[in-house]
Amino acid sequence: MKLAFLGLGVMGYPMAGHLAKAGHDVTVYNRTAAKADAWVKEHGGKRAASPAEAARDAAIVLMCVGNDADVRAVAAGPEGAFAGMQRGAILVDHTTASAELARALEGEAKGRGVGFLDAPVSGGQAGAVNGRLTVMAGGEEAAFRVAEPVMRHYGQAVTLMGPAGSGQLTKMVNQIMIAGLVQGLAEGLNFAQRAGLDGRKVAEVVGKGAAQSWQLDNRAATMLEGKFEFGFAVNWMRKDLGICLAEARRNQAQLPVAALVDQFYQRVQDRGGGRWDTSSLIQILAKP
Ligand SMILES: NC(=O)c1ccc[n+]([C@@H]2O[C@H](COP(=O)([O-])OP(=O)(O)OC[C@H]3O[C@@H](n4cnc5c(N)ncnc54)[C@H](OP(=O)(O)O)[C@@H]3O)[C@@H](O)[C@H]2O)c1
Repeated sequence: MKLAFLGLGVMGYPMAGHLAKAGHDVTVYNRTAAKADAWVKEHGGKRAASPAEAARDAAIVLMCVGNDADVRAVAAGPEGAFAGMQRGAILVDHTTASAELARALEGEAKGRGVGFLDAPVSGGQAGAVNGRLTVMAGGEEAAFRVAEPVMRHYGQAVTLMGPAGSGQLTKMVNQIMIAGLVQGLAEGLNFAQRAGLDGRKVAEVVGKGAAQSWQLDNRAATMLEGKFEFGFAVNWMRKDLGICLAEARRNQAQLPVAALVDQFYQRVQDRGGGRWDTSSLIQILAKP
């Protein structure tokens, strides 16, 4: 299939790589051209000078950039993806962004005779590299049926959740759940250390019972060592929690814990930890 991939960051670079490895004809675009050059050197395919150029002959245009404003910058305008897309093509946005933006993009896509799916992912850099992401999609069934086999090259679970915006709303649920969970983990491990227990042994034991979680299994040991270079950055988490809190103001959901954890993450940022991973909440407790 002729595909375009826009945004070769931590996530996009390996995701696009899986598409090339599967034999698709992939044209890439990245704002910083050097990354696109490196990608083409590694995977073959072509590099385009703008999103519109990359999108020109593609049946599906996939993108993974930063936030709402970045998605608009890449999708809209004379050099944007929409401007280059042919009728009947599909735009798939893997960025974690707002549901509002997804609905607006679907509207814009419809006006141009193209399909649109919001399709944020979970699973982190490791999931992208190993091709084991969870993809939560929103949009129309017909577009999903065409794009699903393509997304399966990097998604172990690829699910249509409902109309446009439903993928982003599902990702918000994911982030709301993770925020409280990581804070609980940080408090428990910090408590264990202050109580004079062997933190590793505690994690091992409680991880065999009801307190088990992915975060405990994968992050407890490094949290105890004060190492925070293992994936999803605090800056991104604050962006995501901002999206969740804004959506909750609209739908009247109460998010007291997520709102509090967002403030703790702000404290991590204030001490220079914006690029640390999200398990760094423990640092606030260990070194108040
Ligand atoms: N990292 C994770 O573990 C993870 C997990 C799940 C979801 N996500 C989400 O996935 C998205 C991407 O994350 P990432 O970690 O891959 O980020 P990243 O490494 O910072 O990459 C961002 C990519 O977007 C491009 N970009 C950003 N703003 C742009 C703009 N205005 N115009 C054109 N290109 C722009 C960047 O281009 P340049 O190279 O020129 O900067 C880069 O290719 C985010 O929404 C994030 O929340 C990330």
